Amino acid sequence: MIKRYRYGAPVNTEAAVIQIAESKGQTVFSERECEGKTAFGYEMEKEDRVYGLGEQMRGINKRGWIYESWNTDDPILTETRVSLYTSHNFIMVIGKNRSFGAFFDCGGKVVFDVGYTDPDVLTVTARDCNLYLIEGESALEIVQEFRGLIGTSYIPPKWAFGFGQSHWGYLNEGDIRTVAENYKACDMPLDMIYLDIDYMERFQDFTVDKKAFPDLKKLAADMKKENIRLIPIIDAAVKAEKGYSVYDEGIEKGYFCKNQKGEPYIVGVWPQDSVLPDVLNPAARKWFGSQYKVLMDEGIEGFWNDMNEPGIFYGEESMAAAVKTIEALVASGRTKKDFAEVQGAVFNLPNSMLDYGAFYHEKDGKRYCHAEVHNLFGYYMTRAAAEYFEERDPDKRFLMFSRSSYIGMHRYGGIWTGDNAAWWAHLLLNLKMLPSLDMCGFLFTGADLCGFGQNTTEDLALRWLALGIFTPLMRNHYNASRPQEYYVFKNKEAFRNLLGIRYSLLPYLYSEFVKSALRGQMLFKPLAFEYPQDGRAQTVEDQLCVGESIMIAPVYEQNAKGRYVYLPEEMKLIRMRAGDRYTQEVLPQGSHYIEVALDEVIFFLRKNRVMPLARPAKNVASLDEKNLTWLKFTDRPVTYEICRDDGFVKKNLERYIERVTVNSD
Ligand code: GLC
Repeated sequence: MIKRYRYGAPVNTEAAVIQIAESKGQTVFSERECEGKTAFGYEMEKEDRVYGLGEQMRGINKRGWIYESWNTDDPILTETRVSLYTSHNFIMVIGKNRSFGAFFDCGGKVVFDVGYTDPDVLTVTARDCNLYLIEGESALEIVQEFRGLIGTSYIPPKWAFGFGQSHWGYLNEGDIRTVAENYKACDMPLDMIYLDIDYMERFQDFTVDKKAFPDLKKLAADMKKENIRLIPIIDAAVKAEKGYSVYDEGIEKGYFCKNQKGEPYIVGVWPQDSVLPDVLNPAARKWFGSQYKVLMDEGIEGFWNDMNEPGIFYGEESMAAAVKTIEALVASGRTKKDFAEVQGAVFNLPNSMLDYGAFYHEKDGKRYCHAEVHNLFGYYMTRAAAEYFEERDPDKRFLMFSRSSYIGMHRYGGIWTGDNAAWWAHLLLNLKMLPSLDMCGFLFTGADLCGFGQNTTEDLALRWLALGIFTPLMRNHYNASRPQEYYVFKNKEAFRNLLGIRYSLLPYLYSEFVKSALRGQMLFKPLAFEYPQDGRAQTVEDQLCVGESIMIAPVYEQNAKGRYVYLPEEMKLIRMRAGDRYTQEVLPQGSHYIEVALDEVIFFLRKNRVMPLARPAKNVASLDEKNLTWLKFTDRPVTYEICRDDGFVKKNLERYIERVTVNSD
């Protein structure tokens, strides 16, 4: 049961796909007005657990911290951060006496104080929002109801479930060919190589630097012969430069965000002075989306959208304020003494409220100040691309994922979780975010494996890969000075085998993904959701159920030789050294210390479940799905639903799900 309540004059985010008539009256929250916003209070019982919020810091149970939905480009992802790149305003309270889900559908800032100010009180503060309240018997049921409200999650082409290599630092065609050759020479699988901003002509969207990439079409075609796709980045900001056709055309049509006076608002991003396409305006969105054509005509079938919080390094207003402060200091001769003030003036330039409050969008015939709709920008930028893909080829799936997002965008693309670091803590964070993202509809997700910033180490790379082989988006991406392509490490065989395991698991992972997307279910489930009657399972945050058959328990600590694993029921431990080299051992319910070598992957097959397993492959195209073996933990025949489409088809995917009956051992 879902009810909708309205507060103020909310923007139509188009997050929901079902129209729900407005309800009036008392909700589960006590409500009070505070500085033009509504504060929604809920007294939590001691045992209540709080879930949701998608891409956010901290645990699966969100209790004990404060979180802000305010899409932010800041790569220092420490534990005390309150906002990240996305806003996923769905929260769920699961208690003994009362459980419910709440979606605060709002384009601006929302604050979730989950027992931070008062350990027993949940307070959500928002302005101008639609509040959807969802009742259900269990966490899984509430999630499924909610997912029905927001529509089917994006499903990428099957090749996008392969492994991809990325680096902000591949400068030219030669660098790309070298990566492909090295993976091949080391006999390691590879399905994608990503192009970061250096492929562009001076960071201009939808252009190619002809000196560095003289013939992108040929490069893309040569790579495709090897079953490798090139995936270029697209940035939100468009370089403000006369003579650059995207800029000239957007100016002529009035499609960029404008200041109060109606002039295009200048922000600084990679290309320096830039403008932002008003993707909330349908005409501007259609125009921006159609720009992807330039690269698709070169043979490109997938993209990643970046800097679309939108992240801005400086804007007209913040720059003017900084210059004013510094000029005043210089004039008064205080520059030397007032180092802090000089520093402050410059430090406050990026992502400033001065700028976010100074430009406007047009949506549904109304003008909105950016600050009121800030969290929708990445969503609508990605929607722009997806709508163009649909127009270009309605029968084909393309790869699209974004850094910033809002609920609703999950129908148009996936996300990666931004600029993490080569920290063990971020490996664990990757694990914990997965179920929260699924609750909010974001199934096609992944973190930058090995870590994006800072120098990684071989053991962290291996442990992180042992988790990464289960994440739908599986990409190694970095910025650090120390190379981290998997072929640079010493124990090449271990990396080769682990990468191969991903491909062996694909018939299972892909089938589970497609079913979860089509049926509004979670792919990664906390044990608490799968085993609600098991007291101990309620607090386990470092193990997850993946799909219907398995549970994972990755190692996430440096120098660990293994880890404790809690089994809520009898399970079969599968220990894999390669997709075709594994052992099986039945373990009783309870706690176990399981040794896990660096070159192994472990997971657990649940009782009365089976899973298909393919032989390791070098890419998705060469996966042999005719000759599957089955991992089984059952003494009776079990039916498994396997998805066998061509990997591209878009419509009616459900009809490619086959029911296979698997006999017991
Ligand atoms: C941003 C992205 C990162 C990318 C970089 C350069 O920091 O998050 O992935 O490599 O920009 O484009």
